[in-house]
Amino acid sequence: MLLVRGGTVVTAETTGRADVLCGADGRIAAVGLDLEAPVGCAVLDAGGLLVMPGGIDPHTHMEMPFMGTVSSDDFYTGTAAGLAGGTTMVIDFVIPERGASILKAWKHWREKAQKAASDYGLHVAITHWDDTVHAEMGILTRDCGVNSFKHFMAYKGALMVDDGVLLRSISRALELGALCNVHAENGDAVAYLQADLLRKGVTGAKGHPLSRPPEVEGEAAQRVIAIAGLLGAPLYIVHVSTEEATRAITEARARGQRVYGEVLAQHLVIDDSVYDDPDPLRAAQYVMSPPFRPRHHQKALWAGLASGQLQTTATDHCCFCAPQKSAGQDDFTRIPNGTPGIEDRMSVLWHHGVRTGRLTMQEFVAVTSTNTAKIFNIHPRKGSVSVGADADLVLWDPDASRTISARTHHQNVDYNVFEGMEVTGVARHTISGGRHVWADGDLRAVRGEGRYVERPCFSPDMTAELRRAWVGV
Ligand code: URP
Ligand code: ZN
Ligand code: ZN
Ligand code: ZN
Repeated sequence: MLLVRGGTVVTAETTGRADVLCGADGRIAAVGLDLEAPVGCAVLDAGGLLVMPGGIDPHTHMEMPFMGTVSSDDFYTGTAAGLAGGTTMVIDFVIPERGASILKAWKHWREKAQKAASDYGLHVAITHWDDTVHAEMGILTRDCGVNSFKHFMAYKGALMVDDGVLLRSISRALELGALCNVHAENGDAVAYLQADLLRKGVTGAKGHPLSRPPEVEGEAAQRVIAIAGLLGAPLYIVHVSTEEATRAITEARARGQRVYGEVLAQHLVIDDSVYDDPDPLRAAQYVMSPPFRPRHHQKALWAGLASGQLQTTATDHCCFCAPQKSAGQDDFTRIPNGTPGIEDRMSVLWHHGVRTGRLTMQEFVAVTSTNTAKIFNIHPRKGSVSVGADADLVLWDPDASRTISARTHHQNVDYNVFEGMEVTGVARHTISGGRHVWADGDLRAVRGEGRYVERPCFSPDMTAELRRAWVGV
């Protein structure tokens, strides 16, 4: 047992002084003023600290086979780094090979994830369509704790699905009470622009953003919103990076459509000037999709989070080291796409969000944890500080500062996209399932201690009543 004493509890709803007692079962046993420490209970002094629900990163890719290689953070190193930054749960992606059984792929990912140090859930990607996929979506939702399916509108010839697959899959998910996630970029347009740029001799990383301009994301977002709207299905768009996609989501919500948008910490603070770096490796390190954007897009993303039109923050944590990034030194289309971020999301959001006045402390908790727990139907077990919830907490020092660097981070990757950034707002302690796993610089993450979190279907916004109200039947 562990008593967190003397802190200020901040949730998505309220702020107030309270002690938090973490029970031996890993759940919160009591929240209140001046709690007694039971015999044998450890006491952690939270004086001057904020006690918040641990962060949830709904978008990570640990040890993911992609573009001819495998992302370098595995489920242990990646989730351990998350704990060091105050993130106590991730939702990663099962990526079945095209034509393969999605159920077998889920089982394979469950095996890989046994080594996780923090709790985790799994979205399952749909990369093709046939009767087996239809049937196995039913099994995954009924027996495997999966309530979300992912679709890539980009990566033509690899993970991309067309509108026909989107229609079938979103319709099937709706029937099962599951939510569809979408990577919105027009993959045909990207492939066309890539070929055109290569033909013109543009081979460096600069070609990456040129082949994926904002319109490519805006069009795909509008298209998938229209498809979900036809079916009366809710929709979750991952890594929204442009004002165009933000506007598409905002307009759909104003029409009554249930569309959610996720923003990456990286897109909020890094702009497209990184592709001008004279060092080709450094430019390649920023190759991810969607790419970094001209600065004015950041304003739209922050406004989206503050206004509630965009609900969650993530990192799309997907690490590739220098030798992996170098595979694309003569052809930008071969640079493995992805950037690290899991360890720094919370600090970046606090420093650039709360300290600048863009977000309140409550909004910070909402966009780093609670909204994700609600959308993926694991609230109040996750994303809350309440009796019976999992004792996943971050003890936050709002005044402490640190300088982000690959030299000191715990992520298994040889660079950091936030290198040199000084941030104020630091995770001093992290508690995961009642265990004190990050203690003022001491990482005590344990391989395999993370549990798989089953996520039930039919979240409150997927009830039959709401669906009928929307579809009008
Ligand atoms: O560049 C990225 N984002 N890599 C990971 C795969 C994806 O698109 O999410
Ligand atoms: Zn993506
Ligand atoms: Zn613009
Ligand atoms: Zn991703």
